[in-house]
Amino acid sequence: PPSRANCSPPPPPPPQPTSQPAMQPDSASHRIARVAAHLSPSPRPQMEEGVRPAPCRAKGGAPGFKVAVLGAAGGIGQPLSLLMKLNPLVSVLHLYDVVNTPGVTADVSHMDTTAVVRGFLGPNQLEAALTGMDLVIIPAGLPRKPGMTRDDLFNKNAGIVRSLCEGVAKCCPNAIVNLISNPVNSTVPIAAEVFKKAGTYDPKRLLGVTTLDVARANTFVAEVLGIDPKDVNVPVVGGHAGVTILPLLSQVHPPCSFTPDEISYLTKRIQNGGTEVVEAKAGAGSATLSMAFAAAKFGDACLRAMRGDAGVVECSYVASAVTELPFFATKVRLGRAGAEEVLPLGPLNDFERAGLEMAKKELMESIQKGIDFMNK
Ligand code: 2OP
Repeated sequence: PPSRANCSPPPPPPPQPTSQPAMQPDSASHRIARVAAHLSPSPRPQMEEGVRPAPCRAKGGAPGFKVAVLGAAGGIGQPLSLLMKLNPLVSVLHLYDVVNTPGVTADVSHMDTTAVVRGFLGPNQLEAALTGMDLVIIPAGLPRKPGMTRDDLFNKNAGIVRSLCEGVAKCCPNAIVNLISNPVNSTVPIAAEVFKKAGTYDPKRLLGVTTLDVARANTFVAEVLGIDPKDVNVPVVGGHAGVTILPLLSQVHPPCSFTPDEISYLTKRIQNGGTEVVEAKAGAGSATLSMAFAAAKFGDACLRAMRGDAGVVECSYVASAVTELPFFATKVRLGRAGAEEVLPLGPLNDFERAGLEMAKKELMESIQKGIDFMNK
């Protein structure tokens, strides 16, 4: 039978029960062993079955991409894994974490959608989790508690992102990486340094996820305008923390205007959206469900672009020449190779120009902190 885990077109649908031949004892036990293997992952689970370890992209025919979620058992990772299991563009879904992956994997794997799910537990299984992946989504790391900024997570999360990205460089250097772990303003530069050291860096393939800022902006603007958020598109540029989150309310689609009070309210609420959730959760963490939703939306946009869809444009924090900073979030045009075009800021009003200066100052420090971490 065709391997279920490579990028060849999916196998044909099983024959109707009436025409199904009697099952041979051998093939039955073989199938049971194969189906059960993901529940207790071994260092290279199911690798004997003809899985091609080389990087693999669907080309022509039925699309199906191999996607890994690193940090899959965490607050963001669990709902994100569920949402990626729902995505018809995913043929293989690898769930990696340092704790609880078998349970999450068993749970998600019972969803009757196409993706084949496999779990990987602990650093010894990271390489098997990453080998052959097309897209790697990284929510791993600690969340904020009340009173913390995203930067307060730096000491814990910087090392986590470094080791995971070392795995990516070694096992799937051509994969597109969607980085969620905070502080994103610093972890994206850390990932870039890891890839540079490994000689695998392609700026187009490293994307910091800022989609939640756009989702929040669309939601809050829609509330003010009294329309459906699905009809609103607010570009959010800069970075993913406090004043570095810069919503461009002068460029909202559909075109509209706001009073100075509305601009002040919306800008503050969008910039503090994450903190609003951290405070409401009162010590139980930060945004997980909306973050997973936003990351799944962004992951889906990447997969559609990788399939060859035209006109896929999303905001993302990427290597950029739009400002003098080496990384900056703007709209980017996604393609088969990742962020194929970084789009310009567009016309800013005075309020936004002032916001941009504040954002750049903080961003510069966060970027430098990430680079220094890798070069100390
Ligand atoms: C947020 O904006 C978790 O950073 C994420 O809520």
